[in-house]
Amino acid sequence: MAFEKNILCIGAGYVGGPTMAVIANKCPQYKVTVADINPRRIAAWNSDNLPIYEPGLDEIVKAVRGRNLFFSTEIEGGIREADIIFVSVNTPTKTFGAGAGMAADLQYWEKTARQIREASQSHKIIVEKSTLPVKTALAMERILTSTANGIHFDILSNPEFLAEGTGIKDLEAPDRVLIGSRETPDGLKARNELIEIYANWVPRERIITSNIWSSELSKLVSNAFLAQRISSINSISSLCEKTEANITEVARAVGMDSRVGSKFLNASIGFGGSCFKKDILNLVYMCRHYALDEVADYWEGVVKVNDYQKERFILNMLGAMFNTLAGKKICLFGFAFKANTGDTRESPAIYVSRRLVEEKAELVITDPRALINAETDLADIKEKIDFIKDPYEAAAGCDAIAVMTEWEVYAALDFEKIYGNMQKPAFIFDGRNILDHSNLFKIGFNVFPVGKPPLTHF
Ligand code: UDX
Ligand code: UDX
Repeated sequence: MAFEKNILCIGAGYVGGPTMAVIANKCPQYKVTVADINPRRIAAWNSDNLPIYEPGLDEIVKAVRGRNLFFSTEIEGGIREADIIFVSVNTPTKTFGAGAGMAADLQYWEKTARQIREASQSHKIIVEKSTLPVKTALAMERILTSTANGIHFDILSNPEFLAEGTGIKDLEAPDRVLIGSRETPDGLKARNELIEIYANWVPRERIITSNIWSSELSKLVSNAFLAQRISSINSISSLCEKTEANITEVARAVGMDSRVGSKFLNASIGFGGSCFKKDILNLVYMCRHYALDEVADYWEGVVKVNDYQKERFILNMLGAMFNTLAGKKICLFGFAFKANTGDTRESPAIYVSRRLVEEKAELVITDPRALINAETDLADIKEKIDFIKDPYEAAAGCDAIAVMTEWEVYAALDFEKIYGNMQKPAFIFDGRNILDHSNLFKIGFNVFPVGKPPLTHF
């Protein structure tokens, strides 16, 4: 059967893979190819063991792989064939030179743009899926049009709003799909082609359009606002711990004001993930570039509170356990940056692990999905840590448990049994407030939630 359109996505990561799987599933009339420079990633996408865990993803990939969804390392051939190219390569924070630690590293994006220019023999629509600083599309346009081969490219910005762990649901029923384009006849035509793809399953009123710079900026601002809510509630959690207020009660009262809303007000050990910190730093860097120092300081505060929240957690542990952790055995429940993913990028558990090892604690880490990534993240101190999948086995013989990830399974564990096998006094530090604290206290634990009075037997 001849396909109506050839869609290529460069970058088979957490965004590219699931996004293309859903497009292929919803649109059997298109051929969708996902290409990546990493042959191991592609081999994994073509196997029964997908490289990422995302609820619902396995089923979709099984249904459409080989039908109209293909994974390949052949990027150039893919480019030649494609009508539309999504670019979803990673754009980490720069680690070198000007803007190190703040600005986005655009080398992969630029390399990909050059690759597209070299391999193309006909008109293409290029869609920015990666999160990029405002005006990157302009730079890409310049690179793509800098040879005299006469091929025309249209660049669109179409930021991804999926959250990991709910990625498939978010893709199938998005709050909105945002498409930014040039407001020229060519730009508008390209925009309509992309609208047509999403209109296969997304209601028209949820597909919104804007100019290209608004679209690029909206993604950074969305993430900055979400992260800001978490830092806001976390900043108040520290105040609750000093007073007799309870952060869950405060968040409930504040969130019921419909002008505020109740989502994303869970106090925690701090936010992680590949996006929030990177995107805020990106925003901060841009503001400094335009000499908007007050604005930059304001947003930088969101990241600072997050760093403080992680360190505060360690200081609370130290304080509670008689000011020394040396030689004590501590079990981390969860290592992923959030539940329902194996992703550990920027996970607060990385910081906590390193600090605990620094304090000379003995560390045991358990997680249903993230142990392989955990071992990679902590490769340099791996010999000081045990990685154990079963939480009962992991907690046995420990002095304390620290909950890092809000995995539902943890709330359902038999804590009588766990308590029986631990050192005494036994401590629980619930960095996610997901456990039944009064029940744990009754069993015998000393319980330290985030933003609530501790329950101790001393
Ligand atoms: C995406 C976006 O691209 C990023 O900007 C956003 O902020 C988060 O989501 P993600 O899918 O999570 O990134 O990244 P990752 O899982 O690292 O996937 C990127 C893929 O691109 C990798 O598989 C990598 O091998 C591939 N890649 C990278 C290329 O194919 N070519 C390159 O030149 C660079
Ligand atoms: C985020 C955005 O939500 C998504 O729209 C964007 O496209 C990519 O970045 P993601 O990083 O996958 O998605 O996860 P998210 O659900 O936003 O969680 C980020 C972090 O905040 C996690 O560590 C999570 O545990 C933490 N969090 C979230 C809290 O600590 N408290 C909350 O109330 C909510």
